[in-house]
Amino acid sequence: MESGRDSRGERQGLDFVGSHILSVGQFSRTDVERLFKVADSMEPYVTRRRTSRALQGAILANLFFEPSTRTRISFGTAFNRLGGSVRETSEIGTSSVVKGESLADSARVISGYGDVIVIRHPLEGSVAEFAAASRVPVVNAGDGANEHPTQALLDLYTIRKEVQARGSGIDGVRIAVIGDLKYGRAVHSLLKMLSLFDAVQVHLVSPPGLELPKDILAGVRERGFKTRTAHSLPDGIQNVDVCYVTRTQEERFSSVEEARQYRGLLRLDKASYLRYCEPHTVIMHPLPRDSRPEAGELSDDLDTHPNLAAFRQADNGVAIRMALFALVLGVEKEMHSYSLPSVWFRSMAAKAHSVTY
Ligand code: NCD
Repeated sequence: MESGRDSRGERQGLDFVGSHILSVGQFSRTDVERLFKVADSMEPYVTRRRTSRALQGAILANLFFEPSTRTRISFGTAFNRLGGSVRETSEIGTSSVVKGESLADSARVISGYGDVIVIRHPLEGSVAEFAAASRVPVVNAGDGANEHPTQALLDLYTIRKEVQARGSGIDGVRIAVIGDLKYGRAVHSLLKMLSLFDAVQVHLVSPPGLELPKDILAGVRERGFKTRTAHSLPDGIQNVDVCYVTRTQEERFSSVEEARQYRGLLRLDKASYLRYCEPHTVIMHPLPRDSRPEAGELSDDLDTHPNLAAFRQADNGVAIRMALFALVLGVEKEMHSYSLPSVWFRSMAAKAHSVTY
């Protein structure tokens, strides 16, 4: 059963086992905290010191009908690190979709092969449509400009880890979300999920024309969060704990020319960061960042700054997705007894490459 209310109107927790994970709206705060606790327990596996065999024999079908690097690979890595196997398709041109197959037919077939399915698709609502015909749990890895629930979970997990070092939590966090707020599904899901916490302050910083959709803004305001709207960095990034920078979602505009007008309008670089941000402000980005000279929303001159958390954020994706698989496949308790030290890692660790980021 998914999150809902019982006969007395009390919110019930998400019964993860066997559930589709389609939207941030399914999660209560308790669910998020439970998932984070399981993610914390993945530390020996994500640091490669141990390997689990809890999902031995299980197959993840990883279906990506839109470009992806970190989401696709981190879902696959998470499943593999739990001992499961991954079959995937990442090229829409090599799948039967180009032969006119419906989402429902694809779901009927693939749920006969995989034990859990992760899917990214360019159309809003497509993942829910796919899930309705699937016999196994389906996880939404992004449906158009709509939602990206596992990104929101790993973003929140990152905020929690980064601010924890200063003795703070997610409640009361002050966050600037910067860039394409109109089409950025990562921001949409993150803001919805932040509404589970208290006294959050949100600075919405976008070029004119790429503002946050009205329904999402209404949700943030309904929650009573203080909001501030800005069209420039100096106005938007002062007095915040987190700067969450995003890319112009070129693929969602009606033409590349239209998207180009917005590229490079808001660029966070070392000079603007040092001038306007607080010494502790954490810098996040769901990645990929657009490093072409005409874009450059997050300059590489911040790459060695200790507050740049974007790559730690990407790493956290593995722990979060492992936790989600462990809960959905019901092995979160057993997984540690089905684990072994990684013999191969010992000699590797001695020769680890030290790279600063
Ligand atoms: C994001 C996405 O696909 O929505 N990327 C990701 O999954 N890490 C953000 C983006 O593509 O800009």
